Amino acid sequence: MTLLEIFPSLRSGMPSPRLATSVWPCETHYDDLGRITVAGVALADIADQYGTPTYVLDETEVRRRCQAYRKHFPDAEIIYAAKALMTKSMARWVTEEGLSVDVCSAGELAIALAAGVDPERIVLHGSGKPFAELEAAVAAGVGRIVLDSLTEVTLLSALATRPQKVLLRLSPDIDVHGHPAVKTGVLDQKFGFPIGSAQAAEAVERILRQPTLRLVGFHCHLGSQISNPDYYGEGVRRMVAEMARVHREHGHLMTELDLGGGHAVAYRCGDPEMNLPELADIVEDALDAACARHHFPRPHIAMEPGRAIAARAGVTLYRVMTIKHIEGGRTFVIVDGGMNDNPRVALYGARYDAVVANRHPTGAHMTATVAGRYCEAGDILAHDVSLPADLRPGEVLAIPCTGAYHHSLASSYNGVGRPPIVAVHEGRCQQILRRETPADLLSRDLG
Ligand code: LLP
Repeated sequence: MTLLEIFPSLRSGMPSPRLATSVWPCETHYDDLGRITVAGVALADIADQYGTPTYVLDETEVRRRCQAYRKHFPDAEIIYAAKALMTKSMARWVTEEGLSVDVCSAGELAIALAAGVDPERIVLHGSGKPFAELEAAVAAGVGRIVLDSLTEVTLLSALATRPQKVLLRLSPDIDVHGHPAVKTGVLDQKFGFPIGSAQAAEAVERILRQPTLRLVGFHCHLGSQISNPDYYGEGVRRMVAEMARVHREHGHLMTELDLGGGHAVAYRCGDPEMNLPELADIVEDALDAACARHHFPRPHIAMEPGRAIAARAGVTLYRVMTIKHIEGGRTFVIVDGGMNDNPRVALYGARYDAVVANRHPTGAHMTATVAGRYCEAGDILAHDVSLPADLRPGEVLAIPCTGAYHHSLASSYNGVGRPPIVAVHEGRCQQILRRETPADLLSRDLG
């Protein structure tokens, strides 16, 4: 037992303890009652007010991450990848911090426009953009469209009525050794054109022939959860060589190089994450060397972090429904959410921490598997986590680092609607997206 546990009154005279800032928002503490607070709001109060499961999102943490990118990459364009988490508030916060926005569907585009994002600062992505989405993007006047196939070159040149800036997506043949589902830099995958291939050359020629299309640069996206910055240095070298080749062969000078996203975050304490100052140095050095080698003027660098902006700002709250000690097996803590609000465990084998949020954990601990409420054995949220041995139904569990690819990947499996998002900021909370109800589900069902 610690002194604090014997004399809880000592706590008020001490600075409140913090939870690890590598996985929790910076302003995460225990309050005098031993409850976890984020941005000054007790998570247990949010659970009481809005129900569970609920995504909590710390506005200051989102802004802080944007500011870190702006600080370490002062000359680069930072484009928030909206697929990580897109709401009007999110779009507003990131653009107020000077970021542009990458959207990959008409839906994300509509949210960005509704939030008042300047269309010129929007980039459209997608490996199979439907005609109507290209049409919507052109009508909205989006700044750049990243072309992914020859079909899109044809469609867009037919659609564009005024000069449309485009980038061409190339796969640079870099294997970042990630999960196969999120490996995008290798040649044999569905995105873009293999670097140096005949198809890539044909795409460049076709775009250059179109009077309405302005090829301003190349794009690549190496993959997800990349913590080794050297891969980006290699990306810069290969892409600049290709830009220089187009310059030599066509006399066409491209000025933008978009290196995509994929910067790793720590999901659990001790996980590796991308070091931004190191990444900045490596990209800078690679750019200097490649441009000197190919006598090519320095392109303007863009990066598209999604996870690294949103992940750590998010905490998901669940209520414990029941606890099962399986004889000769594991202890399952079953909560009222699961794979619907976090499919990342089932999809990618992701690992999370889970912490009791309504009281400071004291006394004995148990090792447990946090499982969801859905009708699948694979519906697990966290493996082998340490929780209080006296945990009871009704208590609140918090899983940190759930701001990116949680709400955006959520489903309404088993007829359970998606959770709300409650934003916290300077001691106040506000629901920015409401819970999906059975009435919402029924409203789509036309009978
Ligand atoms: N740019 C492009 C073109 C992308 O395809 C992506 C992610 C990003 C940027 C942002 O990547 P980030 O910085 O967020 O890693 N559902 C998976 C992640 C899929 C990422 C797809 N593309 C997950 O939950 O891990």
